[in-house]
Amino acid sequence: MSDQILIFDTTLRDGEQCPGASMNIREKLEVARQLARLRVDIIEAGFPIASDGDFEAVKAIASEVQGPRIAGLARCVDKDIDRAAEAVKPAGDRARIHVFLATSAIHREHKLKMAQSEILKRSVEGVKRALGYCKDVEFSPEDASRTEPEFLAEVTQAVIEAGATTVNIPDTVGYAAPHQFGALIKHLYDHVPNIKNAIISVHCHNDLGLAVANSLAAIQNGARQIECTINGIGERAGNASLEEVVMALKVRQDAFSGYQTNIDSTQIYRSSRLVSHMTGMIVQRNKAIVGDNAFAHEAGIHQHGMMANRETYEIMRAEDVGRSSELTWGKHMGHHAVGKKLEEMGYKLSEEEVRRITDQIKTLADKKKQVYDEDVTAIVEGQFSEVPQVWKLGYLSVMTGEIPTASVRLIHAEKKEPIADAGTGDGPIDAMLKTIDRITGLHGSLTDYSVKSVTRGKDAVGEVTVRVTFDSRANVSPAGGETKIVTGKGVSTDIIEASALAYLNAINRTLYEHRRTAETEKPTL
Ligand code: KIV
Ligand code: ZN
Repeated sequence: MSDQILIFDTTLRDGEQCPGASMNIREKLEVARQLARLRVDIIEAGFPIASDGDFEAVKAIASEVQGPRIAGLARCVDKDIDRAAEAVKPAGDRARIHVFLATSAIHREHKLKMAQSEILKRSVEGVKRALGYCKDVEFSPEDASRTEPEFLAEVTQAVIEAGATTVNIPDTVGYAAPHQFGALIKHLYDHVPNIKNAIISVHCHNDLGLAVANSLAAIQNGARQIECTINGIGERAGNASLEEVVMALKVRQDAFSGYQTNIDSTQIYRSSRLVSHMTGMIVQRNKAIVGDNAFAHEAGIHQHGMMANRETYEIMRAEDVGRSSELTWGKHMGHHAVGKKLEEMGYKLSEEEVRRITDQIKTLADKKKQVYDEDVTAIVEGQFSEVPQVWKLGYLSVMTGEIPTASVRLIHAEKKEPIADAGTGDGPIDAMLKTIDRITGLHGSLTDYSVKSVTRGKDAVGEVTVRVTFDSRANVSPAGGETKIVTGKGVSTDIIEASALAYLNAINRTLYEHRRTAETEKPTL
């Protein structure tokens, strides 16, 4: 058996399922392009039957992103499979259809109300229908880790016989323990006679914080595809984190002898930043590999050891995952030079976008001494929103003190004159948000607010992320009274201004979503 481990990235499907993490097509395309630069083997681009937006995103990625295979998810239902096939078709030979059906007793009895024989039959039918469209078909017995091992072996054998090229064993609810999950994979190798005709994959959720450990245990017992996401985002507590699986295999070659992936690890940090920016899911500071503190050494004794020999406290170098800052951006750079450097960084931008970014770099260079790659990345990522700027910030002045007061001027895309107002609040941010609400006529509640410095230094650029719900008075809430969390981001050296930009970004996203044609109901997984 080969020791090559395939990396199946599901950031755009399972990752996007976490509340508030939804991305628009342009954002998904940028993430997919970055995943291609990272050299993942398979991109699961979405669940095409879920909505027209999902379908269009999968289709756009299948048409435009070169390199990895492009997968679309489908239940074992004809209309799902047909829709997934249509969406991944532009990928040609690189198209994959991923069909799934739950196999555990609890799902059979309470969700599906199907006997084992019915599950077997539908699984085989689903695989066969998908094979009618493309030769690369993956099957997932959902909740596999809580399925009777004998029945799981029976389903695995049947779908391989039907032609499935990959069988994925999901730990859907993050229930597995590493030694048991490894043993389950071994059980399949011992009891499925045709198992060598397919690649065995695993898809581990992180409800007990064991997703990466379970994935590694599966590899040691024969799994050769790992399903994972950037920053470990995904349903509930998320999925196995791509960067942790990949770096564990790379750094601990002694423990995982010979296993290798195709991943270009120097693209890991950029991928993490991009996904965090696009989804608004902030990476915790102490997150392995990509957290702010992952390579920071605070204690004097550690710093002393590091100076004597890096390896005293460092098992991998920051550069190995692409974490380094160059000081080569400046206000004297013309847009040609900026465009060339951005292209080297892997960004595909229009001439107009490059000009806009160049202007922003110049403005930033006037405000702070050094402009780092990370500053520029934050500016570039801000361009990826296809959301029209209905409301723009014209002017902002905030006074703190006993009665915090904000004066705000906003520009509306369809109104000739800017609209100005002033108001007070419990603090400067509250005063500013209330004033924006009065001007726009919306009523937002912050469910989350965070500020992060993009680079170091007192003059660092601050990135503000807000998560907001808008109440029904503004007539922008989704139908059915459901409260939708909208994420907004803003970047500035002034954090009050960054907060205003983030809030306006959330407003513009909400208005945009509201105006778009109503999406079809997402089927539940
Ligand atoms: O967690 C899960 O079981 C899934 C399947 C659709 C693979 O996401
Ligand atoms: Zn999942």
